[in-house]
Amino acid sequence: MAGKNGMVIAVGSDHAGYRLKGAVAGALSEMGCRVLDMGTDSEESCDYPDFAIKVAEAVREGEADRGVLICGTGAGMAMVANKVPGVRAAACNERYSAEFTRLHNDVNVLSLGARIIEPVEAVGILRLFLDTPFEGDREGGTRHLRRLDKISDVEKKYSK
Ligand code: RB5
Repeated sequence: MAGKNGMVIAVGSDHAGYRLKGAVAGALSEMGCRVLDMGTDSEESCDYPDFAIKVAEAVREGEADRGVLICGTGAGMAMVANKVPGVRAAACNERYSAEFTRLHNDVNVLSLGARIIEPVEAVGILRLFLDTPFEGDREGGTRHLRRLDKISDVEKKYSK
């Protein structure tokens, strides 16, 4: 999945993230991504789990290459997405976390806090999320693969 052209990105927000979702979707389109907008569709109060699960399932099912979630802090939506096996979501409201959760954790869902960051910063974080490769495939990166396997073991331990 090299480069952004043609990548399919599922995006979802609650009411707090609705405006930033518009800016994020616009930036993704400009970068050459295809955007799947999973809602919400207004600033009317709603429940973030309802939208986080749609994005997480789209990534799990392979409908989308990656997902972007936006709520007030990024925390609640990341919590929901991480309940879906195979999804590795991180709330990143600064660039270092965006870069290193790709390099070390192979994050496939980015969660943003619309009440914390400005749109221009969100786009910077988004670029790092899309452009930064996972280090696990490189020489010396096997420790990251081993750690991801241990995350999968935890999922298996608690799955019915
Ligand atoms: C909504 O007020 C807020 O709780 C939500 O957007 C999010 O920050 C939850 O994690």
